[in-house]
Amino acid sequence: MKRSVLATGSALLAGAGLVSGALAGGCTAGGGAAATVASLSGIGPITFATGKLDTGSYLPGLLTQWNAAHPRQRVTLIPLPDESDDQHAQMVANLQTRSSRYDVMSLDVIWTAEFAANGWLVPLSPRQFPLGSFLRPAVATARYQGRLYAVPFTSNAGLLYYRKDLLAAAGQRPPRTWAQLAADARTDSRRFLMGGYAGQFQSYEGLTVNFAEAVQSAGGSILSGNGTRVTLNSPPARAGLRFLVSGLRQGWIPRASLSWDEASSQRAFQRGKLVFLRNWPYVYGQASKRGTAVAGKFGVTSLPGPAGPGSSSLGGANLAISAFSRHQRTALAFIRFLTSLPSERRVLVNGSLPPVWARLYSSPSLVRRFPYLPVLQKAILSARPRPEIPNYNQLSLAISGAVHQALEGRKPVDATITGLSGDLRTIIRSG
Ligand code: GLC
Repeated sequence: MKRSVLATGSALLAGAGLVSGALAGGCTAGGGAAATVASLSGIGPITFATGKLDTGSYLPGLLTQWNAAHPRQRVTLIPLPDESDDQHAQMVANLQTRSSRYDVMSLDVIWTAEFAANGWLVPLSPRQFPLGSFLRPAVATARYQGRLYAVPFTSNAGLLYYRKDLLAAAGQRPPRTWAQLAADARTDSRRFLMGGYAGQFQSYEGLTVNFAEAVQSAGGSILSGNGTRVTLNSPPARAGLRFLVSGLRQGWIPRASLSWDEASSQRAFQRGKLVFLRNWPYVYGQASKRGTAVAGKFGVTSLPGPAGPGSSSLGGANLAISAFSRHQRTALAFIRFLTSLPSERRVLVNGSLPPVWARLYSSPSLVRRFPYLPVLQKAILSARPRPEIPNYNQLSLAISGAVHQALEGRKPVDATITGLSGDLRTIIRSG
């Protein structure tokens, strides 16, 4: 199992002296204290720690631009692993030693509560950022207990990629329901001798996301909205898990996908070995590049559900300043630069990542270039956030472990949901 264990321990007194200036600024829950940020001190070179999976296409250009304009406050990239779990493990290990190695960190939206509760992040003043122009669900993921701890940078929602050339040859339309997806994936995988449908089914955060989407799409949930009650033990949750389990049993989900994450499932699709793929929007840009087996041959639509469009998990990344950073003022300026409208435009244009600036989704020239933008915006606005609780990592570990066993056919659907519900209750209670 690759997952790091939840970082426990009491708050580190907000990084001791390093943020005391910020806190002394009188920042109250809900923000409002410009002094919080204005009082940040420390100007000089900084580092930016971020996962490398989807950043290669836009980040180098932005860093060059920043460094050219700020020769005394240069930023150095610290590339972290592809998978969210591995990034988490590396960051937590670093922050637990109160290391100043990371100045600005790109945080998965699910880590805000844990990192804030441990005192690893500098609280920020909302007034310093154009939050009102950002997608609201993205902004919500950057707050913890009413206070802003990070700035939304990219949002994310799962989409269904499909081979439009193959669907046309088979006389099919993009599937809207699970039954259509299952039927088309089954027929097409036989007809074209390739995999039918896959998502991210390895035991890690990606599987938690795929499972949550199946449960939500069937009308269920894992926890109550405020994260205090387990709501998993329900017919929709069983239906969601059964959908995935039956795909593996019936063969329209290839068994190889039990070890696939974002990158490996993307590769399978890009090499022309898969008809349908659930993945994030960054795949659009990469799979469209000349030289892939599928450039110009695929389309994108919303995830299907039992009776019509399904529901995505809300993903994305927020930028935060480490409480142990020695150059917090520079870190703040760098975050303002990366989340500015021109930078966000480049994130979309060069990386096909979902920006957080709402207006970019309706720009006619961008919609011409990225025809799925309206579908994506809808998916983000209706996506479900994962629980905002400090021990989210532990919760997710239990979910992906149990679901993976069921997908492997080692435990029946009913027993999995019942057993997992009990485990989650224990975790919530101990949180
Ligand atoms: C993407 C999402 C992130 C999610 C991860 C799961 O990086 O943006 O929120 O946790 O995938 O693998």
